[in-house]
Amino acid sequence: MTNSQLSTRHVLGIKYLTVKDLELIFETAENFKEVINRPIKKVPSLRDVTVANLFFENSTRTRISFELAEKRLSADVVNFSASSSSVKKGETLLDTVNNILSMKVDMVVMRHPAPGAPSFLARHIDANIINAGDGTHEHPTQALLDAFSMREAVGELAGKKVAIFGDILHSRVALSNIFCLKKLGASVRVCGPPTLIPRHIEKLGVEVSYNLRETLAWCDIANILRIQLERQDIRYFPSLREYSQHFGINKAILDSLDKEIVIMHPGPINRGVEITSDVADSDHSIILQQVENGVAVRMAILYLLAAKR
Ligand code: NCD
Repeated sequence: MTNSQLSTRHVLGIKYLTVKDLELIFETAENFKEVINRPIKKVPSLRDVTVANLFFENSTRTRISFELAEKRLSADVVNFSASSSSVKKGETLLDTVNNILSMKVDMVVMRHPAPGAPSFLARHIDANIINAGDGTHEHPTQALLDAFSMREAVGELAGKKVAIFGDILHSRVALSNIFCLKKLGASVRVCGPPTLIPRHIEKLGVEVSYNLRETLAWCDIANILRIQLERQDIRYFPSLREYSQHFGINKAILDSLDKEIVIMHPGPINRGVEITSDVADSDHSIILQQVENGVAVRMAILYLLAAKR
């Protein structure tokens, strides 16, 4: 495998990665994708490395994907989820993590509801930190697996048109995708109801549209996001039914456009709200390839960070 190194000891956000870092991660992930499709899926690269998965917020895909990636690299793995921990007894984040590190943990994968929590930890502790989603801020490994999957589907992303649909305001996947796709030279448009698009988002170099059909006609790739109801403090639209009438993607719309298009979704899907089953399960969809690629991309990140120790 390659001798190149990442420019950083942590993966806190796409914002802090260079284009060279992104390319190194993709190249390494391609190798690992080949590894995990062999009959023997395990390599010894992270033997003697202990990784703690600290999940202070719910997760299915991301937690399992990290755990599989760690195990396929032969790391020792400990799992923690806030709902069954001493956090509920009033312990601070730093105390919780320092206690875990005293048990000689080398790397921390953390999901936390507070934006900036992984960066805070990186300033105070010695382990390599990977951000697995911090509130509405960033979800860098999701954006990397998304970009990796897009490249598999359509080739180099420079000049390609990617539209991100849905709750842009509350989505960390949207922000990390925007940073990543812009670094890779793609044209990016966000589309959703005006109340769910952050003001001044154009400053990140993206276009804004409130018109689903017109944006679907424009893009090569549609990345469709869930409405993040759990993060919405007020009502941003009248009802889910109305949302899906205006911004739900269904087969009838795609058929009427009659074009090549790649459909993506980070999951969890709310079938019948932002996407119908006949689109999610169609030949356009690469949703399950995204999940498969997630393991390879996370293996690449863990491997490259371990080389920085
Ligand atoms: C996303 C997340 O947690 O931000 N899911 C994921 O990691 N696959 C998106 C979401 O929850 O909608």
